[in-house]
Amino acid sequence: MAKKSAQIRPFMPSASAIVSCRGKDGFNNALVVGFACNCSYDPPMVMVGIVPSRHSYSLVKENPCFVVHFAREGQEEAWKYLGSESGRDGDKLAHLGLTVEDGTAVNAPVITDFPVAVECTVVDSIMTGSHEMFVGKIEAIHADEDLIDDEGKLDLSAGNLIRGDIRKR
Ligand SMILES: Cc1cc2nc3c(=O)[nH]c(=O)nc-3n(C[C@H](O)[C@H](O)[C@H](O)COP(=O)(O)O)c2cc1C
Repeated sequence: MAKKSAQIRPFMPSASAIVSCRGKDGFNNALVVGFACNCSYDPPMVMVGIVPSRHSYSLVKENPCFVVHFAREGQEEAWKYLGSESGRDGDKLAHLGLTVEDGTAVNAPVITDFPVAVECTVVDSIMTGSHEMFVGKIEAIHADEDLIDDEGKLDLSAGNLIRGDIRKR
């Protein structure tokens, strides 16, 4: 489906998201996170938590930006793979045959197969315990046109997005 640019504004919390990142050597990776949530309306910022043992953690630490994606119903296979396999063992995105483009605002991959991509620059982080919470300033939002309303606002309730933990499906 054709992509459109949406207004850069806070988007609603979602139960589950796919976060992509890129190492300094250009290696692209992505993992599933339990949630991506608003943490500032002005400027628009989101927060994701990544466990230090994840391969993605090292990539975000060395290249502080990421892209939050949401998947649609029907994309369960990719969601499950990204949430269980590690980029330490190989190129997960290539294995899944996903289409990757460079971010327009950050040096991280945008996976165009997914309907929503939110490009973020890491502006702060806090180690809360098991997770390091990364605060990302939203730099650009791309979404399938059916998810963007007439005012250019992203509407996550408009599509059949995967919102929860689907591992048992
Ligand atoms: C429903 C679900 C939620 C998850 N939430 C998180 C999370 O919030 N933070 C995290 O670091 N890992 C989370 N994971 C685990 C990672 O996605 C998983 O360990 C992944 O294989 C790590 O990939 P990587 O080593 O390539 O970074 C979650 C997995 C699932 C299935």
